Amino acid sequence: MKNTVSTLLMQKQSGDKITMLTAYDYTTAKIMDECGVNALLIGDSLGMVMLGYENTLPVTMDDMIHHTAAVSRGAQNAFVVADMPFMSYQTDVREAVINAGRLIKEGGANAVKLEGGAEVCPQIRAIVNASIPVVAHLGLTPQSVNVFGGFKVQGKTQDKAEKLIRDALDIQDAGACAVVLEGIPAKLAEVITQKLTIPTIGIGAGNGCDGQVLVYQDMLGLTSGHTPKFVKRFADVGALMRHGINEYITETKNGSFPSQEHTYSADIDMTAVLAKEGC
Ligand code: KIV
Repeated sequence: MKNTVSTLLMQKQSGDKITMLTAYDYTTAKIMDECGVNALLIGDSLGMVMLGYENTLPVTMDDMIHHTAAVSRGAQNAFVVADMPFMSYQTDVREAVINAGRLIKEGGANAVKLEGGAEVCPQIRAIVNASIPVVAHLGLTPQSVNVFGGFKVQGKTQDKAEKLIRDALDIQDAGACAVVLEGIPAKLAEVITQKLTIPTIGIGAGNGCDGQVLVYQDMLGLTSGHTPKFVKRFADVGALMRHGINEYITETKNGSFPSQEHTYSADIDMTAVLAKEGC
């Protein structure tokens, strides 16, 4: 069954947790879709995990459309959400609608996601008025990394926690169909989840949210270096890949690959062929 804004809302109402993973390409999206993941997010985290940037800020609309289209081709049932990259919506409401429209029309997404609270409500309203579902994103919003002075947990003081609750209510009033809560204390995420009628999807926000999202390279062990506290490694695909690649190198170098099993043959007298061709 196709996941939609209505089915995600029904999941919140019935207490059935929403599963969301990031995806950036056709093959991975197809596997996740076949596993029954409810929603696939083409996060602008692709700047870091796919393109090797230090943060998400350099990601362009063209990058997002390119990867969104690939994921959409692999997703039959999952709800496809595409991130609006830095500076594609902040400066101008009209431009925000045009760019959101491109992610739907050219990328095949079912919804767009953008970061921010009260300050982006005019954009959320206008995009929703153009019949495009919007997922909001609050807390540790990575496009504000320079304002935060790094990837730091947000909402840790009473003032900041109250501001996040107000922002959550504001984005809901503006028409957002769901909200990602990233890098905030679990108790705060739980309160926001109870106050909102739209689903909350947490990442580093505890288990009181209506669903969870993870960057798939993190949860499958494909990333190296510092791993944030909230990341659980559900499989070590990186180790499997390294093993397979090392085996390939060894067997290719020692000549055992390709063996007879992986080689085509035909009943041809090559001496006659060579003689005829004058070789
Ligand atoms: O870009 C991204 O992958 C995200 C998730 C971390 C929620 O926004």
